[in-house]
Amino acid sequence: QASLKTKLLEINKEAAKYYYYQLQQKNGQAALNYLLSRKLSENTIKQFGLGYSNKTGDDLYQYLKHLGYDDGILKESGLITIDKSKVYDKFWNRVMFPIMDVNNRVIGFGGRVMGDGLPKYLNSPETKLFDKSRNLYGLNFARISRKPNILICEGYMDVIALHQAGFKNAVASLGTAFTGLQANLLKRYTSEVLITYDSDEAGTKAALRAIPILKEAGLSVKIINMKPYKDPDEFIKALGPEEYQKRIDNAQNSFLFEVEVLEGEYDLSDPEQKTKFFNEIAKKMLNFTEEIERNIYIETVAKKYNIGFDNLRKLVNRYGAQIV
Ligand code: UTP
Ligand code: MN
Ligand code: MN
Ligand code: MN
Ligand code: MN
Repeated sequence: QASLKTKLLEINKEAAKYYYYQLQQKNGQAALNYLLSRKLSENTIKQFGLGYSNKTGDDLYQYLKHLGYDDGILKESGLITIDKSKVYDKFWNRVMFPIMDVNNRVIGFGGRVMGDGLPKYLNSPETKLFDKSRNLYGLNFARISRKPNILICEGYMDVIALHQAGFKNAVASLGTAFTGLQANLLKRYTSEVLITYDSDEAGTKAALRAIPILKEAGLSVKIINMKPYKDPDEFIKALGPEEYQKRIDNAQNSFLFEVEVLEGEYDLSDPEQKTKFFNEIAKKMLNFTEEIERNIYIETVAKKYNIGFDNLRKLVNRYGAQIV
């Protein structure tokens, strides 16, 4: 009697094989063309085990049933919806991305519509096997990439495009906010992470939320600027790997990134707002508990915004005095 988890792993593996097989069939032609149109090579499709869930309402169910799995366990897998007497596959007419854990075991799926339908991505629900908060897409490959750091991006396509371009150290969180458990997981494999989120407002906000979580886990954090492109996938398609490598080399210190985002919220030509801005920075400076480090940041910020080092340091110290 195999344990529940072992059975769920088997089911996910069978499903991945089934979706992969479908992609190679006539029914999967449109899906394969979609992936090729997004500039993925046959090799990449194979490496990531990409597949297709076809239009028939319950064929994965029929297939898994034929393999001997009963309704109870299939329901637990999250791949099959059983609603009273009605049974149907969760994923329907989507390009499928199997999600693997660090040991290359399939634990869930993401599925993308081909075109503009909604939701753009559908993901496996949380199951006994699949905990979104403690896994990262692509980490099974990134951890053996022998790169000095790990790139964190937003989406499946970003990870895949980066790997295909030679950046085999890219990972993504699974359609949810970055968690402390994911940060601790990364810490096992690296000491430095580079955030390469989308260059829109959502991406910036997500980066601001992830920075303290990553630092808390003891990781050094830098931010890659993707502008004027939206995400790593589009950047690489437009400018290629060499330009992306330059963006990696020029990645920004995470504190200076936070300062720059903050700057956008104030009108620095107004003395009152400028004062508020410096006060906000001064408060944030207290996170640097080492005096040398704090002084270096004070110096950098003072230079950048053209105020005296001593002025800014006094402001920081004033906030410091309040907390001791
Ligand atoms: P994005 O909206 O940035 O999509 O979502 P993308 O990765 O650039 O997708 P493409 O290039 O249009 O194919 C980033 C990630 O957020 C999650 C997915 O993991 C996606 O890869 N997401 C997004 C969802 O889970 N559901 C959604 O409806 C949208
Ligand atoms: Mn189906
Ligand atoms: Mn996005
Ligand atoms: Mn994209
Ligand atoms: Mn994106």
